[in-house]
Amino acid sequence: RTTTVHVHPAYQVGEVNRRIFGSFVEHMGRCVYTGIFEPNHPEADSHGFRRDVAELVKELGVTVLRYPGGNFVSNYRWEDGVGPLEERPRNLDFAWRSIEPNTVGTNEFLAWCRRMGIEPMLAVNLGTRGLSEAMEFLQYVNGDTDTRLPQLRKSHGWEDPWSVETWCLGNEMDGPWQMGHKTPEEYARTVTEVANAFHRFDDKLSLIASGSSARAMPTFGRWERIVVDAAFDNLDMVSAHAYYEPIDDDAVSFACCAEDMERYIRDVVATLDHVAAMHHSDRRLKISFDEWNVWYQSRFDGENSIGMVHAPHLIEDTYSVLDAMVVGSLLITLLRHTDRIGVACQAQLANVIAPIRTEEGGRAWRQTIFHPFALMSRHARGVVLDTRCEGPTISTQRWGEADQLWTVATWDAESHDLAVFLANRDLHESTRVRIDLRPFGDCTVVECLALDDEDIAAVNTADQPNRVEPHNARCDITSATLTFDANPASWNCLRLK
Ligand code: AHR
Repeated sequence: RTTTVHVHPAYQVGEVNRRIFGSFVEHMGRCVYTGIFEPNHPEADSHGFRRDVAELVKELGVTVLRYPGGNFVSNYRWEDGVGPLEERPRNLDFAWRSIEPNTVGTNEFLAWCRRMGIEPMLAVNLGTRGLSEAMEFLQYVNGDTDTRLPQLRKSHGWEDPWSVETWCLGNEMDGPWQMGHKTPEEYARTVTEVANAFHRFDDKLSLIASGSSARAMPTFGRWERIVVDAAFDNLDMVSAHAYYEPIDDDAVSFACCAEDMERYIRDVVATLDHVAAMHHSDRRLKISFDEWNVWYQSRFDGENSIGMVHAPHLIEDTYSVLDAMVVGSLLITLLRHTDRIGVACQAQLANVIAPIRTEEGGRAWRQTIFHPFALMSRHARGVVLDTRCEGPTISTQRWGEADQLWTVATWDAESHDLAVFLANRDLHESTRVRIDLRPFGDCTVVECLALDDEDIAAVNTADQPNRVEPHNARCDITSATLTFDANPASWNCLRLK
């Protein structure tokens, strides 16, 4: 089998949007407590955050972090997470039926982001709360006037405004499970009011309306149209969420689930542009794909299985080689749409369906899905190039015929760095990849890495943290044609100069 990948420096999608390499920290399970934050851990820094985890987060190359939820935000009282620690209440979080001690709150999180050099993006509670509390939160975080809320923040020891630019207006408001779930018309009204008020405070803020929780939601499409139409002038992005797992043991469709994400993006973009047309506007709104990942929801017994404790082990999925290929293919999809994806956040950062796993008081390690994220974040530079594949296809039950090879390339004309990312989505067949490099002038191979395994179910664990790792693979250039064999269920990174 052979696949010809067509790639040319003239066919540019747009600049690599670094905000595609975002992640998500929710007060859920052990993402915060015993994940990124564990004051009694031997690796804890003076702020109580784990240094070993921070190192992994840096290696992962996260550029943006969404906080504090997720479903959690829809019953969050931000005031309970600020001020003197001894005065912060212990609350019951109804979303994950867990005890929230409020030891980590907005300031601790934002200070951690600043130390880490990561841009924060905050979500406001539009579930149990509304406009007034959102306005207060915004003033507390970003305000710099001689008025009550900025002064309150200063009295808590945080003199400078945090200048958070990007704000999510609610979370998954279309989902019946969400506290304060709304109809599209109800949410449209709320988001119009909140977005208007936020821009009265600061018209430079980048505002994200809560979009659909999944492409399969009954209101998908209609929700985006109604919400964006109502608040068009004050919105910059609308969110999208997608989680994938094999349904009915259909691993073939699962391997190709990037087809769904691709259609999801196209559908939302079409809706956003339709609304822009109705507004006689050239403004192009973008998608904030602020929750995406592989999530074995079928292994989760639901919120009611959680026993109202602090930091329970919750959806700590262990990821395989196949899962890593899928995550790599989803990142390829996001990058292919660099021009319309404003932000993307893999859900979540630590322990909870995460690339990083930790033991309480113990080790931290990289899951298989860590690797494609880290390598793409490190090497996707310059502009995204539109790639086309001519080669075998896969027949899938859920998405029809899908290309075996799923690809994207980035090109930095100044440094002459070309990176080609390829996922071979066939579970059994390899394919020989051929790329004509003549349009790029003289090219040599810098590095060729493959993430694959004879056992596509292989995983990393605390005892075997490096069982699955990218390894050097063979890649030849003869007469300006690159040749590379992509193994079954593999994710690959070819770097040329
Ligand atoms: O990331 C886990 C949960 O998935 C989030 O809290 C929610 O927004 C989504 O349904």
